[in-house]
Amino acid sequence: MPSFDPAALHPGETYFLLTSLVVPRPIAWVSTLASDGTRNLAPHSYFNAISSHPPIVHFTSTGVKDSLRNVRETGEFVVNVVTADLVEPMNLTAADFPPEEDEFTWAALEAAPSTVVAPPRVAAARAAMECRLREIVSMGNGNMVFGDVVAVHVADEVWHDGRVDPRRLHAVGRLAGSGYTAVTDPFFLRRPTWADVRDGATRDA
Ligand SMILES: Cc1cc2nc3c(=O)[nH]c(=O)nc-3n(C[C@H](O)[C@H](O)[C@H](O)COP(=O)(O)O)c2cc1C
Repeated sequence: MPSFDPAALHPGETYFLLTSLVVPRPIAWVSTLASDGTRNLAPHSYFNAISSHPPIVHFTSTGVKDSLRNVRETGEFVVNVVTADLVEPMNLTAADFPPEEDEFTWAALEAAPSTVVAPPRVAAARAAMECRLREIVSMGNGNMVFGDVVAVHVADEVWHDGRVDPRRLHAVGRLAGSGYTAVTDPFFLRRPTWADVRDGATRDA
């Protein structure tokens, strides 16, 4: 089994190794506004939920990019959920657009107004979370943007029995490089209690 000392690797090799192993990563398709009102949209797979009470999510900008600059300036962003039908426009918005270019326009994406924050959401996204900047924490080459979720939107077609149905959402996860995976075959496991484990209810008969 090969073992690696990150200190002996080239940063590009370490990036590929880490992003091959932390998989699949959810993708935040982050919409922001520049201070002059220019719309910006870019995917970030360094993304996760941090707290549910209050609800807080985070995405990380590797280095300083337009999304990070905009959040620093305006304090607001929207996380649009990337689903299988949106991978092509999502990928297009990852190009290195100059800051004055509007990725919504280039990707021919309709924007829908948000209800609490100023940046619009992607109208075609099946779910979106409007966020207000809480804190930016920088370490290594990562600038972690933490935001309070102030509004959540879920399309009717994925809302079932009072919750989001993963079979209807079709979220996409990122693997290393240009690899992706789609949630097409979710499965469910009941989590045992300590009493189940202690009393042997989890052992094979
Ligand atoms: C699926 C996917 C996930 C990505 N995740 C990140 C990420 O987590 N952090 C990051 O800085 N860049 C990430 N990128 C690259 C950015 O999307 C890209 O650099 C983009 O141009 C940044 O746009 P901006 O300058 O408008 O913020 C990702 C690209 C793709 C295709």
